[in-house]
Amino acid sequence: MNSVIPVLDPASPQAEAINNLFLLVLLISAVIFAIVTGLILIAISKGRRRQTLPDQDFGSEKAEIAWIVGPVVIVLWLIAISANLVITLNAIPDVDPDGKEHVDDVELIVTGHQWWWEVEYPKAGVISANEIHLPASPQKKYRILVKSDDVIHCFWVPQLGRKIDAIPGRENYIWLQANQPGIYQGRCSEYCGAQHAWMNFKVIGETEEEYQNWLTGQQQKPEPTKLISPLAMAGREYFFKATCPRCHKIEGTSAQAMIGPDLTHFASRMEIGSGVLENSTENLTRWLKDPQAVKPGCKMPNFKLSETNLKQLVAYLETLK
Ligand code: CUA
Repeated sequence: MNSVIPVLDPASPQAEAINNLFLLVLLISAVIFAIVTGLILIAISKGRRRQTLPDQDFGSEKAEIAWIVGPVVIVLWLIAISANLVITLNAIPDVDPDGKEHVDDVELIVTGHQWWWEVEYPKAGVISANEIHLPASPQKKYRILVKSDDVIHCFWVPQLGRKIDAIPGRENYIWLQANQPGIYQGRCSEYCGAQHAWMNFKVIGETEEEYQNWLTGQQQKPEPTKLISPLAMAGREYFFKATCPRCHKIEGTSAQAMIGPDLTHFASRMEIGSGVLENSTENLTRWLKDPQAVKPGCKMPNFKLSETNLKQLVAYLETLK
């Protein structure tokens, strides 16, 4: 689960541009390092053989000009190409001639919470958590609005592009794009409290068809109660009797709170607790039994559920596909 992110394996034009710049800077630095170290080694080995004091040199105008002009040119050039890259990667909203921003064409809004990510598709009316589905194509890039609900977080999918801070009270934009279908690991990359390390998410690049199927599935209301098992039905009753609806939302029910993740399609997600556990019956039981033991400090308390209620709740949550 907590696998190493292939930072040097870009999967979008934006990430490729960053990678190329990084490799260029690395190459230049390596050459300079080799020259400087080489000269030091030559000086040491020559000096060791000599018995007398070497010729004393009190300055060379040519050498001084070379070591001032050379680095200045290199640094100015690196500043220019870095700035150019930042400008290209910035996803500033399109602006009308009258100065109004086109924020209505945002496909996706990502909101950082301590310690999970809310993912909203405003046009489709879909809300999910910790999983961003999008059609993968080298031609199409998506402008994503990144916000925060509490403290400063940072949205980063190393294989897909630059980082962007999620800042309370501010709207930031980023281009998101994946050349090919695949699963890309995302991280919060700004320290945001105890569970910063477990604020992971996934970008799932799909074909247009897979994406549309997923979106249509997410737009459905949960299974009608008459279709779910008696155990799940008991879990559903317990869910609404207990305090769950004070924090969570399930579309089509009276649970409408948005403090914790939207659970409407909880069972369709790959992970629990922003990447801390894979989404399986065993792990869901572990999580509900004592979330504080799995992710200490998270906003979900230990409700000290009885074994029966625990089984019922797990059965109900697993119907939310
Ligand atoms: Cu959110 Cu670190």
